[in-house]
Amino acid sequence: MKRKSPKPRAQARAAGLRELAEYARAARLQAFAPFSRFKVGAALRTRTGEVVTGCNIESASYGLTMCAERVAIFKAVSEGLRDFDAIVVVADSPRPTAPCGACRQVMWELAGDIWVQIVNLHGRTRTLRMSELLPLPFDARNL
Ligand code: THU
Repeated sequence: MKRKSPKPRAQARAAGLRELAEYARAARLQAFAPFSRFKVGAALRTRTGEVVTGCNIESASYGLTMCAERVAIFKAVSEGLRDFDAIVVVADSPRPTAPCGACRQVMWELAGDIWVQIVNLHGRTRTLRMSELLPLPFDARNL
């Protein structure tokens, strides 16, 4: 059966995320990952169109490593940006790399129910909402 063509809003979103993915790809090249050699790039976009990027930064004290997603979100918040609508995460893995649990928690608390697109270097892509990645969150409403 012929696939239905996507609705105009979905098409516009796909085009916007393709551009955001280019920022994430470029950010990935800045990764400091001498221990895992697994480079990750992230690009976070505000509702008004600003883009803030991040890459993973590792430490010889492995537990101090910071993921690309949290670098992007902490950079953005530190610059006074708070209203986000999408993040794209790029890594070189056979299936697109989903954010780790720690990043999901931070992304939920600081960005809320944004679009999350995960992409590998072959262009394999998956797009979900933050609420699908973290369906039963712990957050400020619990306190
Ligand atoms: N990493 C990220 O930056 N983001 C993810 O979503 C998954 C993992 C990094 C952390 C570490 O530097 C390397 O990937 C291997 O775990």
